[in-house]
Amino acid sequence: MKQIKVDEIKPGMVLAERIISPKGQILADVDTPITAQQLLHVYYYGIDKLWIQDKDEVLEKLDLDAPDEFIGETQSWRISNSQEYKEFKKAYDNCAVKLETLIENFMNRQGSLNDDEILEDIRTVFERHATGLGIMAMMLNIQELDASTYEHMINVAIICRVCGGWLGIKDEKELDVLTMCGLYHDIGKSLVPNAILTKPNRLTKEEFARMAEHPLFGYHILSDHDIDRRIKLAALQHHERCDGSGYPYGLTKDFINKYSKIVAIVDVYDAMTADRCYRAGICPFEVIAQFQREAKTKYDTETLMVFLSNIAESYISTGVLLSDNSRGVIKMIHRDALASPLVLLDTGEFIDLRERNDIFIRACI
Ligand SMILES: [Fe+2]
Ligand SMILES: [Fe+2]
Repeated sequence: MKQIKVDEIKPGMVLAERIISPKGQILADVDTPITAQQLLHVYYYGIDKLWIQDKDEVLEKLDLDAPDEFIGETQSWRISNSQEYKEFKKAYDNCAVKLETLIENFMNRQGSLNDDEILEDIRTVFERHATGLGIMAMMLNIQELDASTYEHMINVAIICRVCGGWLGIKDEKELDVLTMCGLYHDIGKSLVPNAILTKPNRLTKEEFARMAEHPLFGYHILSDHDIDRRIKLAALQHHERCDGSGYPYGLTKDFINKYSKIVAIVDVYDAMTADRCYRAGICPFEVIAQFQREAKTKYDTETLMVFLSNIAESYISTGVLLSDNSRGVIKMIHRDALASPLVLLDTGEFIDLRERNDIFIRACI
């Protein structure tokens, strides 16, 4: 038996203690595998460590193959166990490996970035999976806390393409350029020392300054190459912000390229979802709320609105667990408050989250 931080606990681990809420409710019982749902409750009550049984102890007492009906309740669990997701993940991993080789060869002057193969792969992933469970929901599931720069670049490329579609870009060639903007936006990081890129704790001032050079590095790496100018600009400008608060130049909105503005939003979205991926199922509404809390003046207003409202709307009719542990279904999204939809509770009552500052969406189930 050992005490483990809640962040590190996975559904299915077997409890060595009974978990009691501050109000005296039993949240989960000793000798049972903890479910994703119960983990959410544990987070909710701010419990930070739990006693977990060692594997050998568990084998003696339990048949580990016993299905855990509760784990299947979260949307994220259902997606990760679907066939469509498994195929998507395979194609995605393949893209990340290819990108790594492509960039390494390019940096060693042994190859070019104009290799259409990777773009073709992304297009195929995209076309095959644009329907069904929804590419954005699968992208949430793919998130890992320690995702590599290459995985991040693939994520941004795929989400840029999705966003391009939402913005009404129909021309395949334009969508390809936007995808490449996402794919190579962080190429400058290949010149930042690995120790800084992978440092788990906060960067020092000097380290941050090194890191903040990657847009300039990226632009220089790409500058002599025969690729669309917007791809070079995206590498240079994706950390610029419309209100002038970004870097490296502090450009304001009129001086930032449209595609760089799209990459900026998608880049932040990917970082936010990666940050939350240790939770049992990332809740997209939390990410939307965080975007809206940040100064809206930072991003291109129209692009941000289209991006966030499309994400929110794809969750209409989805089941949700609210922070007070009540459950319901999303019935309507308000354009003026995307993170606070109208929810029909299991009790038959409607709750308008715009009017309830004390309640928020904990998980999609
Ligand atoms: Fe970057
Ligand atoms: Fe990035």
